[in-house]
Amino acid sequence: MNTFQAPTLRGDIDTASFVRETWQLRPRLFRQAFQGFCLPLSLDEVAGLACESQIESRLILEKDGATPWAVQHGPFDETVFAKLPASHWTLLVQDVDKWVPEAAAFLDTFRFLPDWRVDDLMISIAADQGSVGPHWDDYDVFLIQGAGRREWRIDERPVAPDNCLDGTDLRIMRDFQTTQSWVLEPGDMLYLPPRLAHHGIALGDGCMTLSVGFRAPDQAELIEDFVADQLASLSANPRFRDPHRVGGANPGMIDAGSIDTFRTLIQSGLTRNADQFAEWLGRFLTRAKPGIGPLPRDDATLIVSRDLPVILLQGRVWIRDGASRFALIPAGVGETTHRYGFVNGQALVLDAAQFALFDFLCLHTRYTAASLTALSQTPTTRSLLTQLINEGHLYALD
Ligand code: SIN
Ligand code: CO
Repeated sequence: MNTFQAPTLRGDIDTASFVRETWQLRPRLFRQAFQGFCLPLSLDEVAGLACESQIESRLILEKDGATPWAVQHGPFDETVFAKLPASHWTLLVQDVDKWVPEAAAFLDTFRFLPDWRVDDLMISIAADQGSVGPHWDDYDVFLIQGAGRREWRIDERPVAPDNCLDGTDLRIMRDFQTTQSWVLEPGDMLYLPPRLAHHGIALGDGCMTLSVGFRAPDQAELIEDFVADQLASLSANPRFRDPHRVGGANPGMIDAGSIDTFRTLIQSGLTRNADQFAEWLGRFLTRAKPGIGPLPRDDATLIVSRDLPVILLQGRVWIRDGASRFALIPAGVGETTHRYGFVNGQALVLDAAQFALFDFLCLHTRYTAASLTALSQTPTTRSLLTQLINEGHLYALD
């Protein structure tokens, strides 16, 4: 099972100054970024994941498909790989961290940024000259060279939405001018901020790139989710009213008083106190993508709180599932009055002992049975831990 240890960043990489001075702002290359760098998966294992029906994957053929830059979506039959051209293809597998514990552990290296900012670990494998074309992403990314070599070129000019090739499903730039380039070897890492145009080209076969991608919801997504959530929780639904109307000169005119009443009706419907807002935000930020989440225990293996002390000792080490998104908001932060824990879109209002447990669960991703036992000495903490184990968020390493 998962004994993979996340590689640690080289000792002289100062993550605090990185997040303060570089993150979101400018690219940065880290040569031999890790101590004890090893791959969470082999090239064959990545190809194997692309054959799984629940896992999102894409194959990009630069010139041997039906059109230039043709995209095929997985799952793939193994035979597809035997028929690939000799060069110019890339296979990309998304959300590897949600399915493979070793890949989830790899992400631990990036916990100098909040968990709720992390989207996924994508892994690509490519033949010589394989590329997804020059493009930009809306998110920050760490590009880690896993195997083989890849040249990364960047174009530091501001991106223009209409700088895009027609006739392909990919957002490939028509005009890309290299302003800097680097050849990455295994263990090298390139950080790119959002909307910085880049173009990675495999140099030789057996190229593997690991991309740690981040989440940054846009305003429309936030509003859409917030409003839907608010609508679902509205208890009263006051209607427009206009008593004591003062007659107007023109029956066609929408008068100032009515405009104000409409504005107030909408604004009051969208107003939330600090607790209600924090609760929605935590649920929103920890929500998993559809179809992705830990496997809950089946009826035969469900546990009850009473048995928890014994169950905990069944594994010396307990692990947080890679598909579980945990976050917390302590009381008083953002003017909240409650202590909140969030797990994959679920909000939990916690008592003080439960919060101490949840705080520990958020701080680490692996836990000793002894520490979990020490933090679950009350009925409410035992019931919380039991719930998280039954929902599959925590499992024992045998
Ligand atoms: C790749 O791994 O080939 C593409 C990653 C990226 O450009 O974001
Ligand atoms: Co990209």
